[in-house]
Amino acid sequence: MLTAYGADHRRLRRMVAPAFSARRIAELKPAVQALAAELMDELAAVPEGQVVDLRERLAYPLPIAVIGHLMGVPQEQRDDFRQIVDNVFDSTLTPEQAQANNLRLFEHIEQLIATKRAEPGDDMTSLLIAARDEESGGAGLTAAELPDTMILMISAGYETTVDVIDQAVFTMLASPAQLGLGRSGEASWADVVEETLRAEPAIKYLPLRFAVTDVKLPDGQVITAGEPILAAYGAANRHPDWHGADADAFDVTRRVKDHLAFGYGVHFCLGAPLARLEVAEALRQLFDRFPGLSLAAPADTLRPIPTLISNGHQKLPVRLHTAG
Ligand code: HEM
Repeated sequence: MLTAYGADHRRLRRMVAPAFSARRIAELKPAVQALAAELMDELAAVPEGQVVDLRERLAYPLPIAVIGHLMGVPQEQRDDFRQIVDNVFDSTLTPEQAQANNLRLFEHIEQLIATKRAEPGDDMTSLLIAARDEESGGAGLTAAELPDTMILMISAGYETTVDVIDQAVFTMLASPAQLGLGRSGEASWADVVEETLRAEPAIKYLPLRFAVTDVKLPDGQVITAGEPILAAYGAANRHPDWHGADADAFDVTRRVKDHLAFGYGVHFCLGAPLARLEVAEALRQLFDRFPGLSLAAPADTLRPIPTLISNGHQKLPVRLHTAG
């Protein structure tokens, strides 16, 4: 779907789009809230003052549980997928390592398909398998499209949302004035999510785009058909023509909230409403439950993950004081 064009793209997207309608996302909200609350309870059990890596204890487990629930990934397969999907987004792997990882990815997807074919559930994997098995006169999925679509859903749902939770918590803790606006209600948690997506998009650069026709740019340059394109969402989101002279500043009260973090046009991220719901819920519950939350290391010592695609930290060490 991510790289398909025209009628093929529409057919593939139509198949999964209903799962992301406003109604379906609203139905998922109680489950997302309950999953976030469970993680908060686990955090609350950590002894006062002990350093916790929030990337490990919140940013990862919440999206993995949500997409695992949506796709019907059995609990015992979730950790393997996490490792494999991390590698998919890691642009520092050698070609051999990347190829070995792809093989593992397909093996795990086939295993998931076999599990769900034997025991279908109320999940998207079972729906996609049914769409494949119906062989509905070209309207369903081909044998290759079934695993590819599942890989897209699982990888898109795993890694990206992790980075937005990480960046939103980090930026709030590193900018007490901005956090104050969120806590006082002068800015909503949804505003915090949008500004994080703008200033620190989870996908800095998106590879795997190719020009289908010649594309003439406003400055006269031409990208010729077939050339690869690396979409630089991070740069676009901080362009002064769009967001003014203070485009680099993190400002949750910003009036113009537009950004390209979810892409643009017919390929616009299908999971955007789900991702927004997850991150806003994580922030709301985290700052409610731990009013004294603080970074456990100077902000400038946190290291980015070493890939040109994703935009997160290797670790997010915090102290979880409950008192304000
Ligand atoms: C904050 C988290 C997320 C970010 C930053 C993000 C970002 C993106 C981006 C940049 C694209 C490409 C858009 C383009 O080519 O113009 C995309 C596509 C897509 N995303 Fe997301 N995504 C996120 C979460 C999710 C989630 C949770 C899911 C599913 C559960 C998902 C499913 C998809 C799918 C299926 C596509 C392909 C759409 C198409 O090609 O028609 N994403 N996403």
